[in-house]
Amino acid sequence: MTNKPILIQHANELITVAGGSEKPLTKDQMNDLHIILDGALWLEDGKIEAVGKTEEIRNKFSHRLHEAIVVDASEKIVMPGLIDPHTHIVYAGSRENEFNMRLNGATYMEIMNNGGGIHATTSKTREATHEELFSESKKRLDSFLKHGVTTIEAKSGYGLDWQTEKKQLEVAKQLNEEHVIDVIRTFMGAHAVPAIYKDNPDEFVKIVTEEMLPNVANENLAEFNDVFCERGVFTPDQSRKILLAGKQLGLIPKIHADEIEPYEGAELAAEVGAISADHLLKASDKGIQQMAEKGVIGVLLPGTAFFLMAESARGRKMIDEGVPVALSTDCNPGSSPTTSLPFIMNLACMKMGMTPAEAITACTINAAHAINRGKDIGSLEVGKKADIVMMNVPNYMQLPYHYGMNHTDMVIKNGKIVLE
Ligand code: NIG
Ligand code: FE
Repeated sequence: MTNKPILIQHANELITVAGGSEKPLTKDQMNDLHIILDGALWLEDGKIEAVGKTEEIRNKFSHRLHEAIVVDASEKIVMPGLIDPHTHIVYAGSRENEFNMRLNGATYMEIMNNGGGIHATTSKTREATHEELFSESKKRLDSFLKHGVTTIEAKSGYGLDWQTEKKQLEVAKQLNEEHVIDVIRTFMGAHAVPAIYKDNPDEFVKIVTEEMLPNVANENLAEFNDVFCERGVFTPDQSRKILLAGKQLGLIPKIHADEIEPYEGAELAAEVGAISADHLLKASDKGIQQMAEKGVIGVLLPGTAFFLMAESARGRKMIDEGVPVALSTDCNPGSSPTTSLPFIMNLACMKMGMTPAEAITACTINAAHAINRGKDIGSLEVGKKADIVMMNVPNYMQLPYHYGMNHTDMVIKNGKIVLE
Protein backbone atom coordinates (compact mmCIF):
# COMPACT_ATOMS: atom_id res chain seq x y z
CA MET A 1 0.00 0.00 0.00
CA THR A 2 1.41 3.38 -0.90
CA ASN A 3 1.19 6.15 1.63
CA LYS A 4 -0.75 9.30 1.02
CA PRO A 5 1.31 12.31 0.07
CA ILE A 6 1.78 14.90 2.82
CA LEU A 7 1.55 18.65 2.35
CA ILE A 8 3.11 20.65 5.15
CA GLN A 9 2.08 24.26 4.74
CA HIS A 10 2.35 27.72 6.28
CA ALA A 11 5.50 26.97 8.24
CA ASN A 12 6.43 30.23 9.89
CA GLU A 13 10.01 29.31 9.09
CA LEU A 14 10.90 26.39 6.86
CA ILE A 15 14.53 25.72 7.82
CA THR A 16 15.90 23.98 4.72
CA VAL A 17 19.66 24.01 5.58
CA ALA A 18 20.12 23.65 1.82
CA GLY A 19 23.37 23.64 -0.11
CA GLY A 20 25.53 21.21 1.82
CA SER A 21 24.68 17.82 0.36
CA GLU A 22 28.04 17.38 -1.35
CA LYS A 23 30.31 18.68 1.38
CA PRO A 24 29.75 19.62 5.03
CA LEU A 25 29.21 23.30 5.65
CA THR A 26 32.02 25.42 7.07
CA LYS A 27 32.57 28.92 8.45
CA ASP A 28 29.86 31.43 7.38
CA GLN A 29 27.95 28.74 5.50
CA MET A 30 27.04 27.24 8.88
CA ASN A 31 25.12 30.43 9.72
CA ASP A 32 22.94 30.43 6.61
CA LEU A 33 19.94 28.15 7.16
CA HIS A 34 18.26 28.99 3.82
CA ILE A 35 14.97 29.74 5.51
CA ILE A 36 11.72 30.01 3.54
CA LEU A 37 9.06 32.11 5.28
CA ASP A 38 5.52 30.74 4.99
CA GLY A 39 7.14 27.61 3.65
CA ALA A 40 5.71 24.33 2.43
CA LEU A 41 6.80 20.81 1.53
CA TRP A 42 5.21 18.14 -0.61
CA LEU A 43 6.24 14.66 0.51
CA GLU A 44 5.65 11.54 -1.51
CA ASP A 45 6.96 7.95 -1.57
CA GLY A 46 9.15 8.66 1.43
CA LYS A 47 10.92 11.52 -0.32
CA ILE A 48 10.76 15.29 -0.53
CA GLU A 49 9.03 16.06 -3.81
CA ALA A 50 8.88 19.85 -3.61
CA VAL A 51 10.06 22.70 -1.36
CA GLY A 52 8.93 26.32 -1.56
CA LYS A 53 6.49 29.00 -0.47
CA THR A 54 3.06 27.73 0.52
CA GLU A 55 1.34 29.47 -2.36
CA GLU A 56 3.76 28.07 -4.89
CA ILE A 57 3.51 24.48 -3.62
CA ARG A 58 -0.29 24.63 -3.38
CA ASN A 59 -0.47 25.88 -6.96
CA LYS A 60 1.92 23.26 -8.21
CA PHE A 61 -0.14 20.44 -6.65
CA SER A 62 -3.60 22.08 -6.92
CA HIS A 63 -4.97 19.07 -8.83
CA ARG A 64 -3.87 16.69 -6.08
CA LEU A 65 -4.58 18.59 -2.86
CA HIS A 66 -7.59 16.35 -2.11
CA GLU A 67 -5.32 13.28 -1.95
CA ALA A 68 -2.90 14.70 0.57
CA ILE A 69 -2.67 14.71 4.34
CA VAL A 70 -2.40 18.42 5.09
CA VAL A 71 -0.32 19.54 8.06
CA ASP A 72 -0.68 23.11 9.22
CA ALA A 73 2.63 24.49 10.51
CA SER A 74 1.47 28.05 11.26
CA GLU A 75 3.49 29.66 14.04
CA LYS A 76 5.87 26.74 14.02
CA ILE A 77 9.19 25.87 12.45
CA VAL A 78 9.76 22.89 10.20
CA MET A 79 13.26 21.52 9.81
CA PRO A 80 15.20 18.37 8.87
CA GLY A 81 14.89 15.54 11.38
CA LEU A 82 17.74 15.86 13.87
CA ILE A 83 20.73 13.54 13.43
CA ASP A 84 22.93 12.30 16.25
CA PRO A 85 26.26 11.09 14.84
CA HIS A 86 27.79 9.69 18.07
CA THR A 87 25.98 7.51 20.60
CA HIS A 88 26.64 4.48 22.76
CA ILE A 89 22.98 3.51 23.22
CA VAL A 90 23.36 -0.28 23.20
CA TYR A 91 24.27 -1.04 26.80
CA ALA A 92 22.83 -2.55 29.98
CA GLY A 93 22.50 -0.99 33.42
CA SER A 94 23.16 2.58 34.56
CA ARG A 95 25.83 4.38 36.57
CA GLU A 96 24.18 6.98 38.81
CA ASN A 97 26.43 5.69 41.64
CA GLU A 98 29.45 7.03 39.72
CA PHE A 99 27.67 10.34 39.19
CA ASN A 100 27.43 10.54 42.96
CA MET A 101 31.11 9.58 43.36
CA ARG A 102 32.14 12.30 40.93
CA LEU A 103 30.06 14.84 42.81
CA ASN A 104 32.10 13.83 45.84
CA GLY A 105 35.40 14.47 44.09
CA ALA A 106 36.34 11.28 42.20
CA THR A 107 37.34 11.78 38.57
CA TYR A 108 36.01 9.92 35.53
CA MET A 109 39.41 8.32 34.82
CA GLU A 110 39.97 7.31 38.47
CA ILE A 111 36.65 5.51 38.48
CA MET A 112 37.48 3.76 35.22
CA ASN A 113 40.98 2.77 36.35
CA ASN A 114 39.49 1.23 39.49
CA GLY A 115 37.32 -1.14 37.49
CA GLY A 116 34.23 1.11 37.20
CA GLY A 117 33.25 3.31 34.28
CA ILE A 118 33.30 1.56 30.92
CA HIS A 119 34.32 -1.68 32.71
CA ALA A 120 31.19 -1.60 34.90
CA THR A 121 28.93 -1.21 31.85
CA THR A 122 30.92 -3.91 30.06
CA SER A 123 30.14 -6.43 32.82
CA LYS A 124 26.43 -5.64 32.68
CA THR A 125 26.37 -5.74 28.89
CA ARG A 126 28.15 -9.09 28.80
CA GLU A 127 25.55 -10.53 31.20
CA ALA A 128 22.52 -9.20 29.30
CA THR A 129 20.79 -11.34 26.70
CA HIS A 130 20.23 -10.02 23.19
CA GLU A 131 16.55 -9.49 24.05
CA GLU A 132 17.33 -7.59 27.26
CA LEU A 133 19.81 -5.34 25.47
CA PHE A 134 17.31 -4.75 22.69
CA SER A 135 14.51 -3.71 25.01
CA GLU A 136 16.71 -1.40 27.15
CA SER A 137 18.19 0.25 24.08
CA LYS A 138 14.85 0.59 22.33
CA LYS A 139 13.61 2.80 25.18
CA ARG A 140 16.47 5.17 24.51
CA LEU A 141 15.57 5.27 20.82
CA ASP A 142 11.95 6.07 21.73
CA SER A 143 13.24 8.96 23.80
CA PHE A 144 15.44 10.22 20.94
CA LEU A 145 12.40 10.20 18.67
CA LYS A 146 10.44 12.30 21.15
CA HIS A 147 13.22 14.88 20.91
CA GLY A 148 12.96 15.09 17.13
CA VAL A 149 15.83 12.76 16.22
CA THR A 150 15.34 10.59 13.11
CA THR A 151 18.82 9.07 12.58
CA ILE A 152 21.56 8.10 15.01
CA GLU A 153 24.92 6.42 14.97
CA ALA A 154 25.44 3.68 17.59
CA LYS A 155 28.73 2.20 18.72
CA SER A 156 29.67 -1.12 20.22
CA GLY A 157 32.41 -1.03 22.86
CA TYR A 158 30.83 -2.47 25.99
CA GLY A 159 31.85 -6.00 25.13
CA LEU A 160 35.60 -5.84 24.68
CA ASP A 161 35.30 -9.48 23.70
CA TRP A 162 34.09 -10.65 20.31
CA GLN A 163 30.95 -12.36 21.51
CA THR A 164 29.58 -9.26 23.23
CA GLU A 165 30.78 -6.75 20.63
CA LYS A 166 28.94 -8.82 18.05
CA LYS A 167 25.85 -8.99 20.25
CA GLN A 168 25.80 -5.19 20.55
CA LEU A 169 26.15 -4.70 16.80
CA GLU A 170 23.42 -7.25 16.12
CA VAL A 171 21.12 -5.49 18.57
CA ALA A 172 21.85 -2.20 16.79
CA LYS A 173 21.05 -3.87 13.48
CA GLN A 174 17.73 -5.16 14.77
CA LEU A 175 16.91 -1.73 16.20
CA ASN A 176 17.56 -0.25 12.78
CA GLU A 177 15.21 -2.75 11.20
CA GLU A 178 12.41 -2.51 13.75
CA HIS A 179 12.50 1.06 15.00
CA VAL A 180 11.53 4.08 12.91
CA ILE A 181 14.86 5.72 13.73
CA ASP A 182 17.71 4.74 11.41
CA VAL A 183 20.62 3.31 13.38
CA ILE A 184 24.05 3.43 11.70
CA ARG A 185 26.64 1.11 13.22
CA THR A 186 30.19 1.73 14.41
CA PHE A 187 32.52 -0.93 15.81
CA MET A 188 34.39 0.30 18.89
CA GLY A 189 36.11 -2.78 20.27
CA ALA A 190 38.93 -0.47 21.34
CA HIS A 191 36.83 1.44 23.87
CA ALA A 192 38.89 0.30 26.90
CA VAL A 193 41.63 -2.22 27.62
CA PRO A 194 39.94 -5.22 29.29
CA ALA A 195 41.25 -5.97 32.80
CA ILE A 196 42.90 -9.23 31.72
CA TYR A 197 45.09 -7.35 29.20
CA LYS A 198 45.96 -4.55 31.59
CA ASP A 199 49.66 -5.44 31.61
CA ASN A 200 49.75 -6.34 27.95
CA PRO A 201 47.55 -3.91 26.03
CA ASP A 202 49.33 -4.59 22.74
CA GLU A 203 48.04 -8.14 22.89
CA PHE A 204 44.49 -6.76 23.00
CA VAL A 205 45.27 -4.37 20.12
CA LYS A 206 46.34 -7.44 18.17
CA ILE A 207 43.04 -9.18 18.91
CA VAL A 208 41.13 -6.09 17.76
CA THR A 209 43.11 -5.68 14.55
CA GLU A 210 43.65 -9.33 13.59
CA GLU A 211 40.49 -11.00 14.84
CA MET A 212 37.65 -8.63 15.64
CA LEU A 213 38.01 -6.14 12.76
CA PRO A 214 38.15 -8.83 10.03
CA ASN A 215 35.04 -10.40 11.58
CA VAL A 216 33.22 -7.06 11.60
CA ALA A 217 34.06 -6.55 7.94
CA ASN A 218 33.25 -10.13 6.88
CA GLU A 219 29.91 -10.14 8.63
CA ASN A 220 29.11 -6.60 7.51
CA LEU A 221 28.38 -5.56 11.08
CA ALA A 222 29.48 -1.91 10.93
CA GLU A 223 30.45 0.93 8.58
CA PHE A 224 32.79 2.79 10.92
CA ASN A 225 35.63 1.92 13.28
CA ASP A 226 36.25 4.03 16.38
CA VAL A 227 38.89 4.06 19.13
CA PHE A 228 39.22 5.81 22.51
CA CYS A 229 42.62 7.49 22.04
CA GLU A 230 43.41 8.80 25.51
CA ARG A 231 46.28 8.60 28.00
CA GLY A 232 45.72 5.42 30.03
CA VAL A 233 43.45 3.92 27.37
CA PHE A 234 44.88 3.58 23.81
CA THR A 235 48.01 5.49 22.78
CA PRO A 236 48.17 7.37 19.47
CA ASP A 237 50.37 4.56 18.10
CA GLN A 238 47.91 1.85 19.10
CA SER A 239 45.02 3.97 17.83
CA ARG A 240 46.75 4.46 14.48
CA LYS A 241 47.19 0.70 14.11
CA ILE A 242 43.54 0.06 14.91
CA LEU A 243 42.21 2.76 12.59
CA LEU A 244 44.44 1.79 9.68
CA ALA A 245 43.64 -1.91 10.09
CA GLY A 246 39.93 -1.07 9.87
CA LYS A 247 40.45 1.25 6.93
CA GLN A 248 42.14 -1.56 4.97
CA LEU A 249 39.01 -3.61 5.50
CA GLY A 250 36.75 -0.81 4.29
CA LEU A 251 35.72 0.53 7.71
CA ILE A 252 35.77 4.33 7.88
CA PRO A 253 37.86 5.70 10.78
CA LYS A 254 36.39 7.76 13.62
CA ILE A 255 38.16 8.67 16.82
CA HIS A 256 37.45 9.72 20.43
CA ALA A 257 40.17 12.35 20.54
CA ASP A 258 41.68 14.66 23.14
CA GLU A 259 38.75 14.28 25.54
CA ILE A 260 40.50 14.39 28.92
CA GLU A 261 44.07 15.38 28.02
CA PRO A 262 45.78 16.75 24.91
CA TYR A 263 47.11 13.63 23.18
CA GLU A 264 47.44 14.56 19.49
CA GLY A 265 44.20 12.79 18.66
CA ALA A 266 43.05 15.56 16.30
CA GLU A 267 46.37 15.30 14.47
CA LEU A 268 45.95 11.54 14.18
CA ALA A 269 42.44 11.98 12.77
CA ALA A 270 43.84 14.22 10.02
CA GLU A 271 46.70 11.81 9.36
CA VAL A 272 44.57 8.69 8.90
CA GLY A 273 41.80 10.50 7.02
CA ALA A 274 39.13 10.00 9.67
CA ILE A 275 35.62 11.11 8.69
CA SER A 276 35.30 12.70 12.13
CA ALA A 277 37.21 13.37 15.32
CA ASP A 278 34.94 13.51 18.33
CA HIS A 279 35.10 15.25 21.77
CA LEU A 280 38.23 17.43 21.17
CA LEU A 281 37.96 19.25 24.52
CA LYS A 282 41.75 19.49 24.66
CA ALA A 283 42.56 19.50 20.93
CA SER A 284 45.67 21.54 20.09
CA ASP A 285 45.80 24.54 17.75
CA LYS A 286 47.85 22.45 15.35
CA GLY A 287 45.36 19.59 15.49
CA ILE A 288 42.47 21.94 14.75
CA GLN A 289 44.34 23.42 11.80
CA GLN A 290 45.11 19.99 10.38
CA MET A 291 41.49 18.91 10.73
CA ALA A 292 40.40 22.02 8.81
CA GLU A 293 42.93 21.28 6.06
CA LYS A 294 41.81 17.68 5.68
CA GLY A 295 38.09 18.39 6.12
CA VAL A 296 37.78 16.15 9.19
CA ILE A 297 34.45 16.86 10.86
CA GLY A 298 34.66 17.88 14.51
CA VAL A 299 31.83 16.12 16.34
CA LEU A 300 31.46 18.14 19.53
CA LEU A 301 29.74 16.80 22.63
CA PRO A 302 29.15 19.67 25.04
CA GLY A 303 26.79 17.52 27.12
CA THR A 304 29.75 15.33 28.05
CA ALA A 305 31.80 18.34 29.12
CA PHE A 306 28.78 19.59 31.11
CA PHE A 307 28.25 16.24 32.81
CA LEU A 308 31.96 15.70 33.54
CA MET A 309 32.15 19.30 34.79
CA ALA A 310 34.92 20.07 32.30
CA GLU A 311 35.65 22.96 29.95
CA SER A 312 33.90 22.47 26.59
CA ALA A 313 35.70 22.09 23.27
CA ARG A 314 36.71 25.28 21.46
CA GLY A 315 33.81 25.14 19.02
CA ARG A 316 33.99 28.82 18.09
CA LYS A 317 37.66 28.57 17.19
CA MET A 318 37.10 25.37 15.22
CA ILE A 319 34.37 26.95 13.08
CA ASP A 320 36.41 30.12 12.56
CA GLU A 321 39.40 28.04 11.48
CA GLY A 322 37.30 26.15 8.93
CA VAL A 323 36.55 22.85 10.68
CA PRO A 324 33.09 21.54 9.71
CA VAL A 325 31.41 21.11 13.10
CA ALA A 326 28.66 18.66 14.07
CA LEU A 327 27.01 18.12 17.46
CA SER A 328 25.95 15.02 19.33
CA THR A 329 24.66 13.82 22.69
CA ASP A 330 27.32 11.08 23.13
CA CYS A 331 24.39 9.30 24.84
CA ASN A 332 26.01 6.77 27.21
CA PRO A 333 25.61 5.69 30.84
CA GLY A 334 28.82 7.28 32.17
CA SER A 335 29.69 10.64 30.68
CA SER A 336 26.42 11.77 29.08
CA PRO A 337 23.16 9.99 29.95
CA THR A 338 20.84 12.10 27.82
CA THR A 339 18.90 11.82 24.57
CA SER A 340 18.12 15.53 24.30
CA LEU A 341 19.88 16.81 21.22
CA PRO A 342 18.01 20.14 21.56
CA PHE A 343 19.63 20.64 24.98
CA ILE A 344 23.02 19.94 23.37
CA MET A 345 22.27 22.79 20.93
CA ASN A 346 21.68 25.10 23.85
CA LEU A 347 24.98 24.03 25.45
CA ALA A 348 26.75 24.60 22.12
CA CYS A 349 25.53 28.20 22.22
CA MET A 350 26.21 28.81 25.90
CA LYS A 351 29.49 26.95 26.29
CA MET A 352 31.15 27.00 22.89
CA GLY A 353 30.11 30.36 21.48
CA MET A 354 28.11 28.88 18.63
CA THR A 355 25.09 30.69 17.19
CA PRO A 356 21.66 29.01 17.14
CA ALA A 357 21.97 28.75 13.33
CA GLU A 358 25.36 27.05 13.58
CA ALA A 359 23.96 24.65 16.17
CA ILE A 360 21.13 23.68 13.81
CA THR A 361 23.55 23.12 10.91
CA ALA A 362 25.66 21.01 13.26
CA CYS A 363 22.69 18.77 14.17
CA THR A 364 21.42 18.35 10.61
CA ILE A 365 23.54 18.45 7.45
CA ASN A 366 26.95 18.37 9.13
CA ALA A 367 25.83 15.52 11.39
CA ALA A 368 24.65 13.68 8.25
CA HIS A 369 28.13 14.02 6.75
CA ALA A 370 29.73 12.73 9.95
CA ILE A 371 27.97 9.41 9.27
CA ASN A 372 28.49 9.56 5.50
CA ARG A 373 24.83 10.33 4.72
CA GLY A 374 25.11 13.90 3.43
CA LYS A 375 23.48 13.02 0.12
CA ASP A 376 20.41 11.38 1.68
CA ILE A 377 19.44 13.32 4.79
CA GLY A 378 20.16 16.47 6.81
CA SER A 379 18.45 19.09 4.65
CA LEU A 380 15.07 19.76 3.08
CA GLU A 381 15.86 19.47 -0.61
CA VAL A 382 14.09 17.71 -3.45
CA GLY A 383 14.96 14.01 -3.65
CA LYS A 384 16.13 13.69 -0.07
CA LYS A 385 14.49 11.37 2.44
CA ALA A 386 11.37 12.90 3.99
CA ASP A 387 12.77 12.93 7.55
CA ILE A 388 11.26 16.03 9.06
CA VAL A 389 10.52 17.55 12.43
CA MET A 390 8.06 20.30 13.32
CA MET A 391 8.97 22.26 16.44
CA ASN A 392 6.46 24.23 18.45
CA VAL A 393 8.36 27.51 18.33
CA PRO A 394 7.74 30.39 15.90
CA ASN A 395 11.39 30.92 14.95
CA TYR A 396 14.57 28.87 15.09
CA MET A 397 16.29 31.03 17.68
CA GLN A 398 13.67 30.04 20.22
CA LEU A 399 14.79 26.43 19.97
CA PRO A 400 17.95 26.85 22.08
CA TYR A 401 16.56 29.97 23.78
CA HIS A 402 13.79 28.08 25.64
CA TYR A 403 16.38 25.68 26.96
CA GLY A 404 15.90 22.32 28.63
CA MET A 405 12.45 22.01 27.06
CA ASN A 406 11.19 19.68 24.41
CA HIS A 407 9.57 21.59 21.54
CA THR A 408 9.07 18.56 19.28
CA ASP A 409 5.55 18.72 17.88
CA MET A 410 5.53 16.24 15.02
CA VAL A 411 8.05 13.84 13.51
CA ILE A 412 7.85 12.50 9.96
CA LYS A 413 10.11 9.60 9.03
CA ASN A 414 10.43 8.30 5.47
CA GLY A 415 7.38 10.38 4.55
CA LYS A 416 5.16 8.99 7.32
CA ILE A 417 3.91 10.77 10.43
CA VAL A 418 5.43 8.75 13.28
CA LEU A 419 4.90 11.11 16.21
CA GLU A 420 2.36 13.87 16.83
O1 NIG B 1 32.39 9.09 24.61
N1 NIG B 1 35.10 8.47 26.26
C1 NIG B 1 34.80 7.32 26.07
N2 NIG B 1 33.62 6.80 25.86
C2 NIG B 1 32.38 7.41 26.18
C3 NIG B 1 31.97 7.18 27.60
C4 NIG B 1 31.69 5.78 27.88
C5 NIG B 1 31.26 5.50 29.29
O2 NIG B 1 31.66 6.19 30.24
O3 NIG B 1 30.52 4.52 29.43
C6 NIG B 1 32.41 8.85 25.79
O4 NIG B 1 32.44 9.76 26.64
FE1 FE C 1 31.58 8.60 22.96
